[in-house]
Formats: sequence, C-alpha cells, structure tokens
Amino acid sequence: MKFTRVKSIRGELSVPGDKSISHRAVMFGSLAEGTTAVRNFLRGADCLSTIECFRRLGIQIEEKPDEIRIYGKGLHGLSAPSQILDAGNSGTTTRLIAGILSGQDFDSTLTGDASIQKRPMGRIIEPLTQMGASIESLSGNGCAPLRIEGRPLHGIHYRTKVASAQVKSSILLAGLYADSPTSVTEPALSRNHSELMLRQFGADVKTEGTTATIAPAPRLAGQEITVPGDISSAAYFIAAACVTPGSELLIRNVGINPTRDGILRVCRMMGADLTVMPYENQKGESAADLLVRSSSLKGCVIEGELIPTLIDELPVIAVMACFADGTTVIRDAAELKVKESDRIAVMAENLSAMGAQVTATDDGLIIEGGRPLRGAAVNSHLDHRIAMSFAVAALNADGETVIQDAECVNISYPGFYQDLQRLCL
Ligand code: S3P
Repeated sequence: MKFTRVKSIRGELSVPGDKSISHRAVMFGSLAEGTTAVRNFLRGADCLSTIECFRRLGIQIEEKPDEIRIYGKGLHGLSAPSQILDAGNSGTTTRLIAGILSGQDFDSTLTGDASIQKRPMGRIIEPLTQMGASIESLSGNGCAPLRIEGRPLHGIHYRTKVASAQVKSSILLAGLYADSPTSVTEPALSRNHSELMLRQFGADVKTEGTTATIAPAPRLAGQEITVPGDISSAAYFIAAACVTPGSELLIRNVGINPTRDGILRVCRMMGADLTVMPYENQKGESAADLLVRSSSLKGCVIEGELIPTLIDELPVIAVMACFADGTTVIRDAAELKVKESDRIAVMAENLSAMGAQVTATDDGLIIEGGRPLRGAAVNSHLDHRIAMSFAVAALNADGETVIQDAECVNISYPGFYQDLQRLCL
C-alpha cells in the first residue's frame, strides 16, 4: 500500500472495540452459565480466532450486526474438540485458552500461525505445569503447537519474571479449576481486564498491589458487556494528529483503564496538546473522549512501570519521537522482541530506512528526533502494529512510502486505512 504526505488530519472518529476486552468477553461468556451479550465487540481477526476456538469447544456463538451472543455452558460445559484449535496470530487467545484447557477433563491441541509458532510459551507452560497441568510443546522448542492434557489442578502462588497480562490471566483462568486459591505476583502491574471482568461474572478475585488472587470454582453468570474503544487503536490517531501540522481530532469513547493509559501519560511528558474528557459515573472499565491537536513535541524517557501500560503503543511512540525535539529513550521494554514481530529490530530497520536516527538497544530504542523523514519501502513483517505505525510516519514523510503486507491491520483494526483516509486533508 502506498502513502504520501498529507496536509492535516481533522474530524471525529470512534475506534473499534478493545481487543483485550473483546477476547475476554468471549472466553468468560463461554465459561459462564446463561447468555452473554457483547456490544461494540472487535471483529478483528484475533478476536474471531477466539470465537472459532470456543465454537470448536462446543459453545454456540452468534454474530449479530449489533452484538455477539455467547450461550455459555458453565465452567465444566466445554467439550473435547474434534479438530486442532487455531489461535491464528493471537498470543492472547493461545495463552489464555491454554490456562482454561489445562483444567478440563479432555485433551486438546492448540496452535497458530507462523508468528505464534515462534512466540515463547514456556512462560505459561512453567506455572501451569506447577499447578499440575500436562503441556507439551510438540516442536520441542517451547512454542506452539501445544498438546494439553486436562488434569486436576492445584492452587499456587507464582511470581512472574515479566509483567504480562497474558501470563497472569492464563494462570488465573487455570485457578478457576484448582483445588485451592491461586495467586500471581508481577514485577509491575500489567493490564487488569481479566481481574475486572472475572469479578463482574461472579468470580472471587482479589488484588493487592501487583498480586491477584482467584478462588476456585465460582459459578460464573452470563453478563451484558459493552466494550470501550481500544486505546491501542486510538494511539495511531493520537500520534497522527500530534505530528501532522494543522490537525484537530476528536476521538470518541476510548478505554482509559489506568493499566492501559501510558500513551496518554507519554503525550503529557512530550508536551502534546491533548484533552481527556472522561465519562461520568463509570464502574469497572472507564472511557473518555480525547481531543488532540498538532503539537510541538519534546523527547522523553519511557521506562519502568510505565512500560506495561503502553507496551503495544511503543512502535507508534517511536514514530512520534522522530518528530520531537531532542532524544527519546525507551528502555525496560525487552518484551517488544517477542511480540507479533521483534518490534525493536523492525522499528529500528524501518525508521532507519526512512532517514530517522535510531539505535536499537537490548531493551528498547534511542531516537534522536527532529530529522525529516523520507518515504521508503518498509516491511510490516505481518505485524499489525508495525503497519499502522508506518502509515502514521508516511503521512509526514517526503516522497512515497510503500508498506508491504499492509493488510495485516485486520488483526486488530479492520477499516484502519479507510478511517485514516477519511480524516486526512
Ligand atoms: C494482552 C497483553 C499484552 C499485549 C497484547 C494483549 C492481553 O501482552 O501486548 O497485545 O490481552 O492480555 P503481554 O501480556 O504478553 O505483555
């Protein structure tokens, strides 16, 4: 797909529903008794993979124009799949379902695409095995395909090495099937959508600092869920409006859960012209309208506990940093290497191709801002967040940019290019 410079970005937009929350609504709805209705569900390829996996586990799921309806069968209502479960490109699907499958009374095989088959699953195999699970990496490299034999599980207290909501959620979901409470302590707090939504479904989940504890065998009850817009999808438009001269953009109904709002904090650190207008009387997941205008940005340091709150936004933050005065340092973000692509290497490669001054480090990137970008051929490496980040860069570069495999945005944001084009002047 080809892009050239635009004048400005103006107008109003609602981004699609949150990906993490959409996955969880399908999973927890499947394990609940009764019907779960989900509005503003993200119909991206990742969440459709989750739906397909639960259909193969015997759950009826209806896709209506305005909502998804899940006819849950209770904690012990899943049935043995007759086919391999295919998580596609989705790490969330793979890791969370592995936790659920560990405690079933049947065996299953779970796999995904070429990217998933390279992503580390040892981080869930180790704690789930401690709980009594039997999980084998069929290629012997700690990655999917995974053969999971359902077993009786025991509660554990597990300390994760990295802050990962996928690992935390996998263990907590296995904890639903354990014989005693299960706790997870993280080095820093990762997104807490599982804890909030499991509680809404009736589970006994307690949190204290970076520790979450779940009691086994609750009766989960079907819920009505309205998914807020995905802040990770909004991030591309926040960045585009900030760095494109003469821009003004109103982004409606964006989820601003404090475990996800790091991009807003970085915008403040960089001096962005951003107004957050939170909705009133909110319980659980909160949302806001965001007003963003073009801004003179300055470089900043992004590190430590901030990292898990913006882990998926770091590629587009790196693009923003190219338009900022001074140096931006991203550190403590080695997790970027094991996402849908090695995002440290891919960002450094593609930004360099566009003329940016960028250095890849072991755990992040160093970007000297203020050098004009020039159009280039960039490879998305089939990573949706890389493709969207470079669409933002391309709109502010001299000459033409060609993004290879640009259609991978369908993973999290079908309609991204149409939304972007509609707002560009
Ligand atoms: C997610 C957690 C994050 C994030 C991913 C979605 C989730 O991964 O990068 O896109 O829904 O739990 P990690 O938990 O592995 O950091």
